[in-house]
Parts: sequence; C-alpha cells; structure tokens
Amino acid sequence: MSTRRFSSLARQVATACRRSAPRAFSAKPNTQVRGVKTLKFADTTEIVYERSDYPKEKLAKIFAKDVFAVIGYGTQGMAQSLNMKDNGLKVVIGVRKNGASWKDAIKDGWVPGETLFSIEEACEKGTVVMNLLSDAGQKDAWPTIKPYLKKGKTLYFSHGFGVIFSDQTGIIPPKDIDVILAAPKGSGQTVRSLFLEGRGINSSIAVYQDVSGEAKERAIALGVAIGSGYLYETTFKKEVLSDLTGERGVLMGGIQGMFKAQYDVLRAKGHSPSEAFNETVEEATQSLYPLIAKNGMDWMYAVCSTTARRGAIDWAPEFYTATKPVFERLYESVENGTETRRTLTENARPDYRQRLEAELKEIADQEMWRAGKTVRSLRPENQ
Ligand SMILES: NC(=O)c1ccc[n+]([C@@H]2O[C@H](COP(=O)([O-])OP(=O)(O)OC[C@H]3O[C@@H](n4cnc5c(N)ncnc54)[C@H](OP(=O)(O)O)[C@@H]3O)[C@@H](O)[C@H]2O)c1
Repeated sequence: MSTRRFSSLARQVATACRRSAPRAFSAKPNTQVRGVKTLKFADTTEIVYERSDYPKEKLAKIFAKDVFAVIGYGTQGMAQSLNMKDNGLKVVIGVRKNGASWKDAIKDGWVPGETLFSIEEACEKGTVVMNLLSDAGQKDAWPTIKPYLKKGKTLYFSHGFGVIFSDQTGIIPPKDIDVILAAPKGSGQTVRSLFLEGRGINSSIAVYQDVSGEAKERAIALGVAIGSGYLYETTFKKEVLSDLTGERGVLMGGIQGMFKAQYDVLRAKGHSPSEAFNETVEEATQSLYPLIAKNGMDWMYAVCSTTARRGAIDWAPEFYTATKPVFERLYESVENGTETRRTLTENARPDYRQRLEAELKEIADQEMWRAGKTVRSLRPENQ
C-alpha cells in the first residue's frame, strides 16, 4: 500500500519515527534465517524468496560494481536508502537542493557533495537509479532522469504506476536497460523499523525489462537489500492494480467508510461518543485485529463470545453482498486509469498541499476521531 505523500502531518510522522528509531549508523540488524521456498498459498503454489539466501556477503558480491542512486527522500527513499547503507552497499541520494527532503537527508547523516546530490548528479553517479519520488513527482522529473539511463544501468521502482500508466506519466524506459521493481507492502517507517528490529517487511518483486539476463536475480537481491524479510513475485501491472485497489479499499478508504457508517448509526440511535467509538474502532484495533493478524479470522471468531460469533457469521455475507459491487467498481476505476489520472491531476495542483491538509483536517475534525483522542488518552500506557 502506498499511504503517501507530503502533508506536514506526514512529515511530522516521518520525523517522529526517525527520532524514535535508533540512529541508522549504529544499527546492527539481526539476520533471520529463511530461504527460497515453494509454498502452497491455499490451493496455489507460489515461490517466495527469503532473506537467508541473500546474506550481506552475497549482496556485496552481486552489487560489487553498483552505486545506488536513490532519487527522492520521502518515506520510502529514507527507509530503503538507510537499510541498503546498513547492508553495506554504496548509496547516494538525489533530491531537489534545499527542499524538505534535502534537509531530512542531512538530518539522517547524508553529506552534501559526498552522498547527497541533486537529482541529475545522483542519476549520473548511479548504476542503479531507484526512482522513489512521489508518483506525481516521477512524471514531472522523468525528462530530468531519462537522459542518465544509459545502456547497462538499471531502473528501479517501488510501484508499477509510472511505467504501466505511461500514457498518463510519459515514463517509457529506454529499451536497453533493466527495469525492476521491489514494492514493500507497508509504509517506509515500517520498512525501516522492522529492519532495525531484525525483522523484515514483505515485498513483491517484478521485472519489466531484462536486458542483462540477471534482472530477476538483481530484483530479488535488491528487495532483500532494502529490508524485505521475504518477497513474492508479481508483474508491474498486477502490482499497481492490486496496490491501488487495496489502499482505496479495505486498507484505508473502505475502513474509514465502514467505521464512520457504524459510528454514525450508533450516535443517531442515542449512544454516547465513547460507547460508539469503543464499539467501532477501539475494540477493532486494540483487541480483534491483532487476533486476526495472529491466527486468522476463524480463530478470532473462535475466541470471541458465542453471541458475537453467531452474529458475525450471520452478518458477514450481508456485508460481502453489499460491498462486493463497490470493490468491482473500484477495480474497474483503477484498471481504466481513472484513479491514476485523478492522482496525477490532483497532486499536480499548485495548492495540493493546502488542499490535502484541509481534507485531512476534515477527517480529524469528525466527531468519531475527536472522540478517539480521548479514548486513546485513557489507555493505561498513555497515562
Ligand atoms: N509510502 C508508502 O507507503 C509506499 C509503499 C510502497 C511503495 N511506495 C512507492 O514508493 C515511491 C515513493 O513513495 P513515497 O511515499 O516515499 O513518496 P513521498 O514520500 O511522497 O516522496 C516524496 C519525494 O518526492 C519528491 N518530489 C515530489 N515531487 C517532486 C518533483 N516534482 N520533482 C522532484 N522531486 C519531487 C519529494 O521531494 P521534496 O521534499 O523536495 O518535495 C520527496 O523526496 C512511490 O512510487 C510510491 O508509490 C510507497
């Protein structure tokens, strides 16, 4: 999922995470033992690539001649570059000089003229150009980046957006370079914090162009180098379609819609804000979702009361029927390019940041989330 982009709120979160995480340069990530595996996911057999097959020594060998130019220092640029650096690889950062990212990179120890450069300078130095600008920024910056993508280089993305919707972005890579993807399934803050804990995010990998004959191997190795614990295979197209659907659906858009609908019904029927919030959000995030994460939905149902279980089993099909057409419309909107077009148009507006701030404030000001502040303050660990 790609939670994204630049609001000052997002920056505050990024800064807070950077502050709370141990400094990058003193980190000693543990190495978990895992391997390449053919596994059954339900009834389908898939291959997954795991970190133990790509220890630091192997990464050093595969990438002995490479310099990684990480273009963009948002949440993914920050996490992936620091993890690669901690994995012993040669990394330089390329961002707009004196912009917010430039300053963030300096705070994290990147040195102007040594490891921190303009986008053009970094692209010149990099043998692997890692395009981690925002997706709208990738469209703008493509004419700047493209001339540096000379034969033998590798172009890397963490999203299939730019290349698959090239009719909207103009991103058509030169034919004589490898084009690969590793897409962490989580925010950059998680990519970094899991790495520092010796754990690893799950990511997908894909190859769009394989000129060297080594693109897949390099995509897997790079996926490990940026901090993944395991990687599953996809294509650029499937990655972007599933990712855009997921974040608009269950991961973010859907969950806000469902939470608010239930909260509003409870409030309209005379329940207090604390009761409505506890029955809608707090119990979900604090008690039940962690149970789903641990052992699946049936297990969560099994450890709940018989009353709760009966009702959940009865009502789940009703919600399925109500929401499936919405998911179908959503997927179609992603597939036919409506969602990417809207993203590019909206994010290119000069007042984009102010508008985003206003939209996020509107959510923060909803009674449900204002009530949530008080509920969270009551958690014993927050007192
Ligand atoms: N965030 C996620 O959870 C996530 C997860 C998986 C994959 N991804 C993918 O990873 C990539 C990076 O995402 P992100 O969330 O890290 O992005 P982000 O935080 O929005 O990154 C913003 C970066 O892009 C730069 N930028 C924006 N517009 C620009 C322009 N017109 N010219 C030059 N630089 C520009 C910003 O520089 P300034 O500071 O100078 O403005 C900043 O360094 C995207 O493809 C995204 O889809 C993201």
